[in-house]
Formats: sequence, C-alpha cells, structure tokens
Amino acid sequence: MSPSYPSVQREGSPVPPPAPARAPPRRLGGTFLAGSGGRLLPAAVPFGYFGAAVLFQAWAWVALAFGAPAWADGPGGLGWPLAALHAVTLGVLACSAMGASLQMLPVATRQPLVRAGLAGWPGLLLVPGTLGITLGMGLARPLWLAAGAGVAGVALAGWGVLLALNLRGAHGMPGVVLHGWGALGALVLLLVSAGALVALWLGVPPWGRTSGRALHLAAGVFGVMGLLVLGLSTILLPMFAIGPVPAERVQLAGGAAGALAVALAAIAAFLPGTPALGLRAAALTCGVLALALHLRTMRRTLREGLRKDLGGTGTLLQVAWAAAACTLALGAVVVALDALDAAALAGPEGAGSPAGGGSEAGRTAGRLFVVAAVAGWLLTFLIGVLHRILPFLAAMHAARGQRRGPTPSMLTLEPALALHRRAHLAALALLLLGTALRSAPVLWAAAAAGLAGALAFAAFFAVLCRRLVHEQRSGG
Ligand code: HEM
Repeated sequence: MSPSYPSVQREGSPVPPPAPARAPPRRLGGTFLAGSGGRLLPAAVPFGYFGAAVLFQAWAWVALAFGAPAWADGPGGLGWPLAALHAVTLGVLACSAMGASLQMLPVATRQPLVRAGLAGWPGLLLVPGTLGITLGMGLARPLWLAAGAGVAGVALAGWGVLLALNLRGAHGMPGVVLHGWGALGALVLLLVSAGALVALWLGVPPWGRTSGRALHLAAGVFGVMGLLVLGLSTILLPMFAIGPVPAERVQLAGGAAGALAVALAAIAAFLPGTPALGLRAAALTCGVLALALHLRTMRRTLREGLRKDLGGTGTLLQVAWAAAACTLALGAVVVALDALDAAALAGPEGAGSPAGGGSEAGRTAGRLFVVAAVAGWLLTFLIGVLHRILPFLAAMHAARGQRRGPTPSMLTLEPALALHRRAHLAALALLLLGTALRSAPVLWAAAAAGLAGALAFAAFFAVLCRRLVHEQRSGG
C-alpha cells in the first residue's frame, strides 16, 4: 500500500520525504534505430559512397605531395594544392556526406527514403566529376575543370533535391532538419560560386575573384559541410555514447546561429572595406556562439552517456572540436590583420577575403584557417565518425535476414584503424607546421604520413566489405 500523508502538516510533525522529483524523460541516442532495418538502403549505395571517399582520401595526399612546393611558395590559383583541397572537400567530405545523409536521415526521421531508387546516382556522377575537377586544377587545364564542374554540379544538385524531398516529409528532430535546410541553402550558394570561379578561369568572370572565393569558402566549408556536421552530430554522438539527445531548443538556437554566420559571411563577400570587416566579425561571433552551444551539448551527451569510452573515435572527435575552435580563432586573426591593412591604406587585392589578407602574415593566417577548418575540423571529425559507423552499418546489413548477426567488432580490422588514426594526426600536425613555415619538405612528410594512413584505412574498408559479403552469403 502506498504511504498516506496528512494533507496539512502540523508544526513539529515529521516531514514526509519529498516525492522524488520526476526527471524529464531522457531521449537516449540510438533509440530511433529500433525497427530501422527496413529503412536501410541497399548496402552497395552507402558503401559505394564511403568507398569513393576512402580512395579520394589517398588521392588527396598524393596531390599534396605533387603540390608541396607550390603550397610552400603560395602563388594560389589552379595547381596541385587546389586539387588536393578539392579531393578532400568533394571526394572525401561531399561523398561521405551524401552517403551518411541519405542513409541516416530516413532512419532518424522515421520515414523511408523518398525516391530511394535514385540514391546512388549523385555518387555515380560525383566521382568522375571530382576526378575531372582535380585533374583540371592540378594540370591547370580550365576546360577539364569546367567539364568536371558540370558533372559534379549536377551530382550536388541531384543530392540537394533528394535531401530536400526527405527533409520536407521528416517527422521529428526539428534541430537536425533546420541544420539540413541551412546546408541546402548553402549548397545553392556553393554551386553558384563554384560556377563563377570556373567561369573566371575560362576568362568570363561574372564578378571579382576575391568575392567569388570568399562566397565559395563560406558556403562550402561552413555552410554545406559545417552545418551538416553540426546537425548529424546530434544524431551520431548520442548514438555512440548511448547518451541524451541534446534539447531541441538548444539545437535550434545553435543551428540558427550557424546559419546566420554563413549568411553574414556570404553578404560580406560582396561588400567593400570596413562594412565587409564588420560583417565578417559579426559572422565570427555567430560562429563562436554556434560552436559553444554545440560543444556544451556534446560534452553533456558524452558525460551522461552510458558508454564512457569512445576509444579512438573519442580522441579524433576531441581533436576535431579543438580544430574548430582554432579555426574561429584564426578567422579572428585574419580579420584583425585585414583591418590593420585597411587602416594602413595598403588597399590589398586580398583584403576582404577570409582566406587571405593582403599582407604576408595575413596570407599565411588565411591558409592556416583553411587547413584548420578542412583538415583539422571536418576531415578529422569525419574520420572519427567513419571509424565507428562503418562497422556498425556493416553489422546492421549483415544481420538482415539472420537470427543472430555478427557484432561490429567482428567485422573490424582494428590495427588498421589505429594506424589510420595515428598517421592522420601526425599528417595534420605536419600539414599545419609546413603551412606555417612554408616548408616543402615538411609538407612532403605530411603527405607521406597522410598517405600511409589513407592506405591503412583502405585496407580496413576492403576487409570490412569482404567480411560483410561473407556474412551475407553464409546467412542467406
Ligand atoms: C562543383 C564543385 C566545385 C568547384 C567547381 C570548385 C571550384 C573551385 C575553384 C575554381 C577554386 C579556385 C578559386 C581561385 O583561387 O581562383 C576553388 C577554391 C576553393 N574551394 Fe572549391 N569548388 C567546388 C566545390 C567545393 C566544395 C564542396 C568546397 C568545400 C566544402 C570547396 C572549397 C573551396 C575552398 C576552401 C577554396 C579556396 C578558397 C580560397 O582560397 O579563398 N569547393 N574552388
């Protein structure tokens, strides 16, 4: 029988123990996975995207090896450094973002993928398009660049349409959905700016190079990739840590701050001198707010999660978050140096571009800003996530139609992942050092370490796929 308490307390009478405060129900990460087997795409689709990303990662380090002297000398423009950058941004980041978003969003938003039959097509176009773009950049052939850009542009637009169709019908997860719409808006700006930059190299520039580059950087790195990383993290991290899903209102506030930062930076690209500097400073402030909200919720998820130790993935995520903070600090340095240049009336051609002010110091800070954002934050985060999610996804596929499927660790070649993690971190440190010192030998060392890691990752991926096929054959 439940204890009964007098309705009015008399002075001196024993006070009943307070009823336990009812904690708000905690939504734990990964609960949406229950019954999600039916929303899995055919294995060839996500593994095709991730396989392409594995190969482009190796290609990026090879391109950096070709481009080390040019990166150290720093003339900018077409060349192997730009090819290496796009092997990462398009080949690794965009391919993985396509695979992850097309597979994760239907699972997380509890609806089958709309037009699932078309899910593999953007990837089939993005791979040759990225090859054309990177070869056109590396060999300085604008026509190859333009041809590759046309094909990759269709791929990115097709992915955008698929994503929009799925976001439109999403149930729940408004924070994730807001980040998704923000990334889609930025994708439109990315396509426009990429087209303008290619036209510039074909000799028909629609607007100045500085404006095009600034818009492209803001839309691609922070808009499309940055917002997707922030949004998908709120699905992935709670799932990895079996921890609480961040409160929707915090996710919405962070997403709005992030989207505003991108919008301000995009407008700043077309303003002159002081107004541009003011808007870039405001964009940085919004970026700091978005990152602070994000890191606070992620730390809570990790602290309260049932799985305390995320192993190597945890290390990579911490490095990625530190790099995101460094990116914003470097952005502030670039804005400050540009402001000094403007005050000294140097009137440099690069002033107003977030990736390179007019002075030598400004250009070096601008390059470090791009390296910290692309290799330090986005690529390191992605590697951390792929190390954990690929075995997990393979185990889900292997379990289909089986009474008892394999565990993710049974499919994983752990030593290869450890080698990839260490080599990537070494390559990142060397890349930052080589960029700061403008030293080709240090950049070659970075390329060698990065390539060793990328090959280890390729070995892991090949073994994973072989074990998955074996399980599917023996189970079927
Ligand atoms: C169709 C796809 C794309 C094409 C055709 C393309 C083309 C270009 C070109 C021609 C440049 C050279 C600008 C110059 O210095 O004259 C450039 C720079 C750059 N791109 Fe892309 N790009 C594409 C996609 C992306 C994506 C998806 C990202 C990031 C996620 C990205 C990030 C960058 C960055 C960071 C720079 C350097 C900006 C700077 O130094 O100011 N690009 N791109």
